[in-house]
Amino acid sequence: MSTDWQMDALPALAAGIVARLKQACGTIADPWRLPVLATLGPEGPDARVVVLREVLNEGRELLAFSDRRAPKIAQIRQHPRIALVFYDGAGPVQLRVHGQAKVDETPDAERWAWLSDAQRQNYRSLAIPGTPVLNPSEGWATTDRSGLEEFAVIRMTVETMDWLWLARAGHRRAQFSWEAGNWCGRWAVP
Ligand SMILES: Cc1cc2nc3c(=O)[nH]c(=O)nc-3n(C[C@H](O)[C@H](O)[C@H](O)COP(=O)(O)O)c2cc1C
Repeated sequence: MSTDWQMDALPALAAGIVARLKQACGTIADPWRLPVLATLGPEGPDARVVVLREVLNEGRELLAFSDRRAPKIAQIRQHPRIALVFYDGAGPVQLRVHGQAKVDETPDAERWAWLSDAQRQNYRSLAIPGTPVLNPSEGWATTDRSGLEEFAVIRMTVETMDWLWLARAGHRRAQFSWEAGNWCGRWAVP
């Protein structure tokens, strides 16, 4: 799960970051599996934890799942610019990612099939996520809906990555942007 970040070549570091993101998708205990997704809401910045579900095209595209009725979905539709923050205390290392998100318009039956029945339960509420309820257990009321109709895939196209490693021997920071099909990097002052 931990990565040796001692890399002196920027292409190797970019490849290491992408490899770690791919690994995080499939590793429950990897802290990079649970990034914070920041969006712009009607009252200003908003942020929440999501599960990183898929890493495509050398890290250029990152996928997360959500209920399409959730406030973050409306926020993304209105303001597609997003940021994701990944943090791992073992390092410690932080990755900040900026890009554009969009929400798939049709329910994705293929990815829905990946989810367990317990995970599908997240999509079966009758009321919109965030609706006030009188009792704490009311928000988790079961219905016999499938949930697929509320299942949304959020596709995030990454434009830039900002990596920061607080190493004892000296902190390091690198910034990457996607140019002509590659991560183009430079070192920066931490
Ligand atoms: C460990 C953890 C994982 C989560 N994963 C997701 C997720 O993959 N998708 C999602 O929509 N919400 C996820 N949530 C819930 C969100 O953080 C958030 O509370 C919820 O989606 C409502 O966000 P919104 O009101 O900004 O739409 C997760 C929360 C936690 C604590």
